[in-house]
Amino acid sequence: MIHMLTWFSTTFILINFCRGSNLEHDGWVNIKLEHCLLPSDSPIFTDRGNITIQSLRLGQAIVNQNSLTQEERVQLKEMAATNQFYQIRSTVVSNDGTENVFLSTIKACMLAEAQLDDRLSVSLDYTGRVIGITLLIASKSTCEGAVVPLSKLKEFTTSVYVRHPEVGPVPDTASYIQKMEREREAKERGEVKDNRSILAKYWMYIVPVVILLMVSSMANPEAAANGGGASR
Ligand SMILES: *[C@@H]1O[C@H](CO)[C@@H](O)[C@H](O)[C@H]1NC(C)=O
Repeated sequence: MIHMLTWFSTTFILINFCRGSNLEHDGWVNIKLEHCLLPSDSPIFTDRGNITIQSLRLGQAIVNQNSLTQEERVQLKEMAATNQFYQIRSTVVSNDGTENVFLSTIKACMLAEAQLDDRLSVSLDYTGRVIGITLLIASKSTCEGAVVPLSKLKEFTTSVYVRHPEVGPVPDTASYIQKMEREREAKERGEVKDNRSILAKYWMYIVPVVILLMVSSMANPEAAANGGGASR
């Protein structure tokens, strides 16, 4: 009986260990967005705007983007007409101070025909780190050759989607240890504040112990009746 309970609580703790690693600690990121409107072998990127994702868990983003100048609108229209690619460079600064750069490319005509209504997909691994940023056009899959007036190429209306890892709880000790290391470092710098009560933090350890105590106290009177008080 006790054997089975020990097994049960160990399994219970293990399940929580794995599940807890799926974005247990929330974080924020700042993304500096740049784009290239003059395609060449060595692209020159200019400022497009900034995105702040305040909560990776909730996917809340604040998007601040420049309007395209008349000159930039003409450049984009020209890129679309000549079937060139529009490229963005996203520089991600995370709350642990790391900086990562991601490039993403779409056909300029898709962006133009969607009238700058694009989507930024931010992919996370299960430790909450950004592992990719992809630019997409949700409303189109091909260019239709529509003529878009320059006045419709002024403002980006970008929606940001935070993609959480789809895989279920897979025990990955190396990443888990890395994650713990990063959290420890963040805690040392006083960035991560864990204000939850002891009970909220450690309930997964407390519950099995309580169950264990309850069951053994239920089992004891029985043992006392049968064995006359002999321990076990
Ligand atoms: C983005 O942030 C940079 C640096 O903080 C700033 O210079 C720039 O004006 C910002 N751009 C927008 C569109 O808010």
